[in-house]
Amino acid sequence: MAILKLEDGSQHTDLNKITQELAPLNIQLNRWTVGDDGQLHQLLAQDSLNEDEKEQVLTSLDSYFKQLQQTTGYQTRDLIVLHPGIPNLDVMLSKFDKIHTHAENEVRYIIDGEGIFGFVRPDGSQVELTVQSEEYINVPVGTEHWFYLTPAKRIKAVRYFTGTEGWTPEYTGTEIRTNKVAA
Ligand SMILES: [Fe+2]
Repeated sequence: MAILKLEDGSQHTDLNKITQELAPLNIQLNRWTVGDDGQLHQLLAQDSLNEDEKEQVLTSLDSYFKQLQQTTGYQTRDLIVLHPGIPNLDVMLSKFDKIHTHAENEVRYIIDGEGIFGFVRPDGSQVELTVQSEEYINVPVGTEHWFYLTPAKRIKAVRYFTGTEGWTPEYTGTEIRTNKVAA
């Protein structure tokens, strides 16, 4: 289940409370099951996946992609697989751990592991949301946010795209305050 941390150090796991705190950002957060297919679970338990295995995972979850295609026009999807054995993992992640925006919605379906999204709310307050396996999140275009992994440094996430241009992070220069509270 997702965990929301506020700047005063309080933590919330109740989905209604989380939804209420995120409402000013129009962030969508849903629980999506990966089902009980044994082969899929075996693949998700692996650290890394080759291209065929990635495609197998994506195909088995394509009912969600089809829904998104029909309702919101998403056109492509891929699977990102991160684990501590990846060389330069920290360098890769350092692109996203400063406050930035994108020219496209950031849409992720976490299917293994977890990651932390930080957000700047319209009133300037900052929150951190730990998104875990079987959770879908849609961060609207232009939302000031950042992303990093928990100490396990492990995540598998399906990314959905409406185009290919929106992926360069645009840094806003806003300073992150929540880490100081969370430390
Ligand atoms: Fe981002």
